[in-house]
Amino acid sequence: MLVSAKEMLIKAKEGKYAVGQFNINNLEWTKSILQTAQELNSPVILGVSEGAGKYMCGYKTVVGMVNGMLEEMGITVPVALHLDHGSYEHAFKVIEAGFSSVMFDGSHYDINENIEKTKEIIKIAHEKGLSVEAEVGSIGGEEDGVIGGGEVADVNECKMIADLGVDMLAAGIGNIHGKYPANWQGLRFDVLEKISEATNPMPLVLHGGTGIPADMIKKAISLGVSKINVNTECQLSFADATRKYIEAGKDLEGKGFDPRKLLAPGAEAIKATVKEKMELFGSVNKA
Ligand code: 13P
Repeated sequence: MLVSAKEMLIKAKEGKYAVGQFNINNLEWTKSILQTAQELNSPVILGVSEGAGKYMCGYKTVVGMVNGMLEEMGITVPVALHLDHGSYEHAFKVIEAGFSSVMFDGSHYDINENIEKTKEIIKIAHEKGLSVEAEVGSIGGEEDGVIGGGEVADVNECKMIADLGVDMLAAGIGNIHGKYPANWQGLRFDVLEKISEATNPMPLVLHGGTGIPADMIKKAISLGVSKINVNTECQLSFADATRKYIEAGKDLEGKGFDPRKLLAPGAEAIKATVKEKMELFGSVNKA
């Protein structure tokens, strides 16, 4: 059964580790992430962007697929199904469809509108048992056509949003989605430390987990980050493994064109990436 992300993140914050949010794109992604979480006895959050939700034929299809897998695969570790960077309208759609967690990204509104809309979503989501993530200071880079400027969040605004009663808070600290440019200055730990002090014990969320060096991830966790989002890195490892399979001509050998064979190396590659992240984040055996 799906669970809200609230409890797993409170535990993570207390235990000084982070739970990974791995974005899903299709059945193979979802299966690989769930298998790895179960094998490693780790809690996990499945992230669904609006674009990925549309690609997978809508939120009800996603809920049906994930619930089916939890049962048929015998998954016993805590799993949350979470809307990633949700708009106001889509936040309500996933609440209806049966998600167990929702992010409302109001970072592009002015702070008063962000507060008002976040409050409304908290009320409805909490009534139905879903956890809520809010965002202050947009995350840079591009995700599903939404380009954020990579702002560094304002500490007072973080405190205002945290005090509304959200369950987790994403704050921009120089992190961006996708690959980091060669001249990236790194995470703003000075800002993270202030946000963490102002909002404690709020679990903080680090978006753009792809390509952040291990030492920075560890430092961010020590400063209160309890949820780390990873998307691009699984996409890159899937694409790389699939490319190797095709370039080696494996699809032309025997029944190598069968999608169950063709997509298998990519699915294994996602598992390896998720395993590496769960070990780095410290969530192994924390289910
Ligand atoms: P990456 O694609 O950079 O890993 O970011 C994922 C993310 O933050 C999803 O919200």
